[in-house]
Parts: sequence; C-alpha cells; structure tokens
Amino acid sequence: MDIWFHIARALDGALRQCAQTLPQFGAGFDPAIKPSDPRHADFQANGVLGWAKRQQKNPRELAGHLADALRPQLDEALVGLEVAGPGFLNFKLSALFLLRWLEAYRSHADFSQAAASLFKGEKIVIDFPSPNTAKQMHVGHLRPMIIGEAIQRLLGFCGADMLRDNHIGDWGTNYGILILGIKRAGYSLDGKGPEAIEDLERLYKEGSALVKSDPAQADAARHELVKLQQGDPENTVLWKKINALSMQACDEIYKLLNVTIDVTLGESFYRDKVTRVYQELTETNIAEENQGALVVWHDEVPRFSRDAAPSQPFIIRKADGASNYGSTDLATVLYRREHFNAQQIVYVTDGRQQDHFQQLFLTVEKWFAKKGYELPRLRHVWFGTILGDDGKAIKTKSGDPVKLKTLLQEAVERAEKQVAEKNPELPADERAQIARSVGIGAVRYADLSQNRTSDYVFSWEKLLAFEGNTAPYLLYAGARIHSILRKAGIEQNDQICERGATAFETPEEIALARKLAAFPSALDNTLEDLRPHLLCTYLYELAGQFSSFYNANKVLTDDPGQRVRRLILCRRTLTVLEIGMRLLGLEPLQRM
Ligand code: ARG
Repeated sequence: MDIWFHIARALDGALRQCAQTLPQFGAGFDPAIKPSDPRHADFQANGVLGWAKRQQKNPRELAGHLADALRPQLDEALVGLEVAGPGFLNFKLSALFLLRWLEAYRSHADFSQAAASLFKGEKIVIDFPSPNTAKQMHVGHLRPMIIGEAIQRLLGFCGADMLRDNHIGDWGTNYGILILGIKRAGYSLDGKGPEAIEDLERLYKEGSALVKSDPAQADAARHELVKLQQGDPENTVLWKKINALSMQACDEIYKLLNVTIDVTLGESFYRDKVTRVYQELTETNIAEENQGALVVWHDEVPRFSRDAAPSQPFIIRKADGASNYGSTDLATVLYRREHFNAQQIVYVTDGRQQDHFQQLFLTVEKWFAKKGYELPRLRHVWFGTILGDDGKAIKTKSGDPVKLKTLLQEAVERAEKQVAEKNPELPADERAQIARSVGIGAVRYADLSQNRTSDYVFSWEKLLAFEGNTAPYLLYAGARIHSILRKAGIEQNDQICERGATAFETPEEIALARKLAAFPSALDNTLEDLRPHLLCTYLYELAGQFSSFYNANKVLTDDPGQRVRRLILCRRTLTVLEIGMRLLGLEPLQRM
C-alpha cells in the first residue's frame, strides 16, 4: 500500500473509484471525508448517508458494500476500516502507518514535492500589493503585503506556477492635484532620493486643500491631468520622476517585509489597451451609454441592476471620455489571460473593494463567454481593517496614518529589548538578527493569525507575547527543538540516525505523529478559501502538541528503538514548523 501524502484526498479518491464499480452507487457519489473525533477514528466518510437516503436504500448496507470494495486496497495493519453508526465509514491510521508516513516525508524537499501535486503547475497571477503611488506606505498597506506574500508562497509551495504582478495605481486624478502642488511650490524633483516622498505627500495635501477650497484651482488640477494624459512633455517628465521616487520608497518596504514581485504593471501600462475593451464590450452589447459614460449593468444582482436605487452600474469609461479603475482592470484581465496565460487570478485588497471586484468578475464572465476567450478563475481575497485601541482604523496621535517604516522599526526595537532581557549573553549581531525575525515576524503573524475578513486590534503587548498564538511562541518552539537536537548531537539534515525506530506507543507520541500527518489537510483547508489563519492555528496546535509530548516523554532514552522514533518526532515537528513558518513569511531561528 502507498503511504499517501494527502491522506484524506487519497481516501476520497479511492472511495469515488470504488463507488463507480458498484451498481448501488455512481459517478456523482461524494464520500464527504472529514477528520473524525480522534477517540474513534482519524477520518470518516459521511457521504453514504445522504446518498442512501436519495436512493431510498439502507445506508448501513450500502456502506458495507463500499467498505468491502475498498478493503482489498488497504493494508489493515496500516489503515483500519469499519462501518459505524447508521452508515459512516471510519478510518483509523495505525501507529505503524504514522511511523511509515514520517519516514516517507522527511525533508523540506519531500514535503514540497508531495505538496506540488495539488496545483500541478497551474499558472496563477497574484495581484498584490498594488499600492497607489506618490504616497508613502502607511499601516493600511500592511495587510495586502503580508497576506499576499503568504498566499503566494502557499500557492507556489503547492505547485502553482506563480506570477506576482504589482498593479500599482500610477494613473489618475491624484496626479493632477500633485502636479499642481509641485508647480505652485516651485518644487524640483531633480537629484532627490526616496526620502522626497515625504515632500510629495505634503505637496499633495496642499494641492488637495486648494482644490477643495477654490473651484478655479480644481479646474487647474484637472487641466494638469488632461495635459498628462495627452502626453504633455513637462508633465510626463514630472510623472515619471514621481513614480520612480515612490517605487524606490516602496522597494525599501518590500525588502524589509521580504515581499517578492515579478512584474510591476500598473494602471498606466493599460492606458492604450482600454480601447479594445470599449469596443468589444460595446459590440457584444454588454456595455451601453449612460449619461455620457459607458456602463455595464448586471440585472441578475439587484444591487447592480438598472432598478437599484441609488443605481450603481459598473462604469468602464467616464463621461469625459477618460478611462478609470474599471476600464484598466478589464484590460488587465485580458492581458493576463493572453500574455501570461493565466488560469487563475487572485486579487488581494481590502474589503471595501468587494463591489468593484464582483462587478468586474461578472463583466469579464459575460465578455469572455461572448468572445469565446478562455475564462481564468477569478478570486478576490479581501481583508478587514487594522484597528487602534479605540476600535477605529489605526492612526497616529495627530490623526495621520501610521507610517509603515516607523511601525516596522518600532517592532524590531521592541523585540530587541525583549530578546536582550530573555537572553543577555547573546552577541550583539545575533541579537539584532533575532530581533528582526521576532519583530517583523510578530507584526506579520498577528495579522495572518486572524481570519482575514475580520478587523483586528493592533496591540504590541499581544503580538510580542511569548505565550499564545504568536510569532515569538512559534519561533521559540522551533529554536527549542534545535537546541534539543544540538544536545543530542544530531543535525537536522542527518539522514542516518533514523534507522531502527519502533512503532509509537505513548498517547503523546501518537497524538503528535497524527498531528504531523495532518499537515497536508491543514494546507488544503488553508488553500480552499485562501485563509492563512488556518495554517497559523495548525502550527500553534502542533507546537502545543510537541510540548505535551516532550514534557511527558524523555527523548534521549537508553532504548535505541524508542530513542530513534522520538528523535524522528522532534525532527519532523521542526521540519513542518519551519516549512509552515516560512510559508507565512516568518524567518525561523536556530536559537533565541
Ligand atoms: N491600487 C489599488 C488600491 O490601492 C489596489 C489595486 C488592486 N488591484 C487591482 N487590479 N484592482 O486600492
């Protein structure tokens, strides 16, 4: 019998196959495999119940047939199978199976190879962090970077062929205002570095105050924008300089947060590609003129229908003829399909853009169907807001958004103090490296460990705590296993020392081994709706399970078979913890 990596998936596949060979079942049968109450079994298949009900047959009898068909494929010393209750199938993994599983999946490479079978090279474009340029990154930019990076790593680890596309907002109304501000102040961008982004922010603020208070200035700003859009050389040069500066400032943050990007194709890149969108959507009668604008209605969704009040059509060309967020996003989908061969596109933005993406996706579906283009799977991965103590979106005392650079620096400083207290003997350079991993990791993990669609309150005390579901806790759990292995004189990658293990016996050994073999299911659950907090919960529970095991079972005993199997548990926990942490963007530590 094979030692399957994704045990639940393998059982699901085997049951579906058996069902097809049985007259009582059929191809539409879903075994509905679920993890089970561990006191009774590891997995159970509940699908027979519903199937039998629909066929008006006895569920226990049907379950018996299915079990009989599957049994020849199972080695009962490895996987036990029982019909239980009114017609469930219970699967129990033996201690021997768990040991074989841990022997089959040893290294990081074994895990990534096995996990890669999930997406099998599917081309996925991920659209993140996609900030608007000409502004300094603030705390609001944290979530698309942290969540986007984790998701792109997870998908890549599970076999997707990822393209990270930073769809920056570098084209639009803001530029008119900013250019106006720059010109009025007589500000020169020559020879300026990324720190000039602060000046730009100030000039933008001054510009927008003017525009608000004086209609003549509002006209002037619009005029600057029109000039830019028509290719006026002076404004084009300014625009290029502004973008270059803000990209440099963003790059510093990407580096700090280990955000990887393959291409940066912002809104401006699509400005000559929107004509085809207008044309195709008009000729297919999907879009129509409305008060001078070009719009798309989706009558099947009440909110987006003609009758809604207030009406909310998807505007794809403004009344003044200019393109907008909708037009560029439509052109972007087509480009990603035709140019990158995207089979799936994942957008990571905040929840306020849900309507935009719903309308975008509906429009693309209709458009691609009419034109016979292959439709990629489109997913909007949205997230909530980071709140301050007062329960409102986090701000500085003066009411400005918290600058990201300042926040990350503070995280590293606070972590450094904590590390120095905990371990005063560490040499300064190692302390600095640990502080970086703990500080930035803590900010990341606090974000990822929350269900992404909820808001959460930012709290230094909570995210830097060594107790609870935090980055310091996980990093420490990993460092502790490193220290156990160092004491045992075993390096993490030493292959030889795993021979001669005897099967797990104690309840803690078995519980830990089970938890390790559940890693693929944890990945599956996380990827199903792209929710990284599910992986966090798994890792947190794994670390807890390890503690229980280690507190109750001596590792370096005199019984060689026992010693080896316990060392396997230590090493595999470390491997899985480190893989998981890296997927979330944490940098594991050897000591702390
Ligand atoms: N620039 C946008 C913002 O800051 C996010 C862009 C997301 N990507 C997209 N293709 N619309 O809100």
